[in-house]
Amino acid sequence: MLINLDGVSKAFGNYDVLRDISFGVPKGSFTILVGPSGCGKSTLLRMIAGIEDPTGGTISIAGRVVNDVEPKHRDIAMVFQNYALYPHMTVAQNMGFSLTMRATPKAEIAAAVARAADILGLTPLLDRKPSELSGGQRQRVAMGRAIVREPVAFLFDEPLSNLDAQLRGQMRAEIRALHRRLGATSIYVTHDQVEAMTMADQIVVLRAGRIEQIGAPLDLYDRPANSFVASFIGSPGMNLLRARATSDGALVVTGLDTPWTLPRPARLAPDQPVLLGVRPQHMVLTDAPDAPEIIVDSVEQMGAEQSIVARAGDQTVSLVVRDRRVITPGDRLRVTLEPEGLHLFDPDTGMRLAQDIWG
Ligand SMILES: Nc1ncnc2c1ncn2[C@@H]1O[C@H](COP(=O)(O)OP(=O)(O)OP(=O)(O)O)[C@@H](O)[C@H]1O
Ligand SMILES: [Mg+2]
Repeated sequence: MLINLDGVSKAFGNYDVLRDISFGVPKGSFTILVGPSGCGKSTLLRMIAGIEDPTGGTISIAGRVVNDVEPKHRDIAMVFQNYALYPHMTVAQNMGFSLTMRATPKAEIAAAVARAADILGLTPLLDRKPSELSGGQRQRVAMGRAIVREPVAFLFDEPLSNLDAQLRGQMRAEIRALHRRLGATSIYVTHDQVEAMTMADQIVVLRAGRIEQIGAPLDLYDRPANSFVASFIGSPGMNLLRARATSDGALVVTGLDTPWTLPRPARLAPDQPVLLGVRPQHMVLTDAPDAPEIIVDSVEQMGAEQSIVARAGDQTVSLVVRDRRVITPGDRLRVTLEPEGLHLFDPDTGMRLAQDIWG
């Protein structure tokens, strides 16, 4: 592990922002910290950078505990959401700034800037001022500033959140490609789970200052450890339907006149309540007359598919259907659940159930 956190906590006064955070970042990996606003992502990143001191636990980089090491001696580069470039400096001067501050020889700075500019496609823009650049180009200059230092690791704090959706998609791909080329260890913070799914080798899901799950993107998608991860990862997130085991060997979703009824996993007790997890893509329209009916609340036509929010008895569900028929609010649709897309969670603790036979 290049970077290791062991039992790290952080309190501001009496307020515990982070509790018992432990994970490792393998050398060369792209690790993403994801979670809702305020869960402590930036604070965690700032502690790794050394801008903030942990209240407890240890942070090590390359085998050395760095709790008491100054930020400038940690050899880490950070790219922020508000990557303020110096407006009066050219692109080249902005990129070389940290080296200038370290009194690196001019020729060496020029070579480092040229190399980074080449990697980032900024060579034709080196003499421009930031005001003469597009948002994506400015973002690339901010990355260039980090690259010229050749740090042991890059930390990114929501670097794309100021960009429009299309540019964000493009920059996502560019950052990934850059990472592959440089092989540089990166920790990247976002609250956008799509960014996390598409970019990460490893995702750390945080909620309210605690780690909910760590794993590769598909691990989290296919086997969420709890109902929070299930509903956070995926777009839209997983439906969590209240359901109950019956005494005659079935699992029944509650609150519908004609409910979804599934074979009961062997180890559920009769009458045991569960949360049945179903991804929106696994709720399928059917013509079968005995299938449960839902009532459409809203529809988003996305071109290749339609994203639907509907009422299933007293519960709300979302569906993503690849179906070209025109669907409008108020429509009644018959829906089946694809058996391979089902998960079970404990309704009290939210934990994935060990006797889960489907997932
Ligand atoms: N210096 C500080 N003093 C007191 N509380 C703070 C301080 N910095 C952050 N906090 C609190 O700590 C919590 C975590 O903040 P943090 O910025 O790490 O969240 P985040 O996950 O990065 O959120 P976002 O997605 O909105 O950027 C928040 O409740 C915040 O208000
Ligand atoms: Mg933040």
